[in-house]
Amino acid sequence: MAIVPQPGPAIPHTTLVLAMSLDGKIADRQRGAARFSSAADLDHLEAQVAAADGVLFGGGTLRAYGTTLSVRTADLLTQRRQRGQPDQPLQIVWSPSGNLDPDLRYFRQPVPRGLVTTAAGAEGWGAEQFEQVWTVPPDRTQPWDWGWILAQFKRRGIHTLALLGGGGLAAEMLRCGCVHEIKITVCPLILGGTMAPTLVEGDGFLADVAPRLTLLSNRTVGDEVFLHYRVQSSA
Ligand SMILES: NC(=O)c1ccc[n+]([C@@H]2O[C@H](COP(=O)([O-])OP(=O)(O)OC[C@H]3O[C@@H](n4cnc5c(N)ncnc54)[C@H](OP(=O)(O)O)[C@@H]3O)[C@@H](O)[C@H]2O)c1
Repeated sequence: MAIVPQPGPAIPHTTLVLAMSLDGKIADRQRGAARFSSAADLDHLEAQVAAADGVLFGGGTLRAYGTTLSVRTADLLTQRRQRGQPDQPLQIVWSPSGNLDPDLRYFRQPVPRGLVTTAAGAEGWGAEQFEQVWTVPPDRTQPWDWGWILAQFKRRGIHTLALLGGGGLAAEMLRCGCVHEIKITVCPLILGGTMAPTLVEGDGFLADVAPRLTLLSNRTVGDEVFLHYRVQSSA
């Protein structure tokens, strides 16, 4: 069966934003924070965060970085205010287990935070750490029903959502046909091997039902290439 994204009013418009090595890895085999992209890519990433009402990332990503990217550039803050957005998007982590260290710097950053989790994962977390906790009912977690979850985000006023990785979250979103656009920065290094996380983890797709993309733009800065794709509505 074809992968059919679900745009339209029910869920936010989603953009997956990632930097990868030439061979498609988003971190090295130690699976720590990926810091191989350039200052231009960090500016690009901040602009994507600044454009969104909310950002979503996986627990693996939060554990790797310990922090999230807030909007700091004056021009970007001004543009958000002109659009009637709060200074910072809601910074949402998806963690079924809720197994996050409360001492992570993320919990001290001056950003609004959200958590998508299970009933067990929500235990111990409250308003001090998360402005919003979405506790997803068990019948929607096997597999995760992202169409339903994203509809809850939309009801909360999130119309645009940046998906910031990692590969586990990207796989989930693509599996559900919930990615509308993809912005990939191809970085000039090769990480190789089978241990390093790739752009899309999980079971992968067979070629005849794989998500298909339309290239919207490409831009080169130094040795990096910035690619912008739209996910086609059917394979
Ligand atoms: N280059 C880039 O642009 C970029 C961007 C983001 C991240 N990264 C890298 O990507 C890596 C993290 O990516 P990732 O794919 O490991 O994690 P991830 O996508 O950030 O998170 C994986 C999520 O899957 C959940 N999960 C659900 N079922 C699971 C299962 N059966 N087994 C494992 N996890 C399950 C985990 O929940 P729990 O929290 O409950 O475990 C976690 O929330 C890091 O190395 C990071 O540096 C790179």
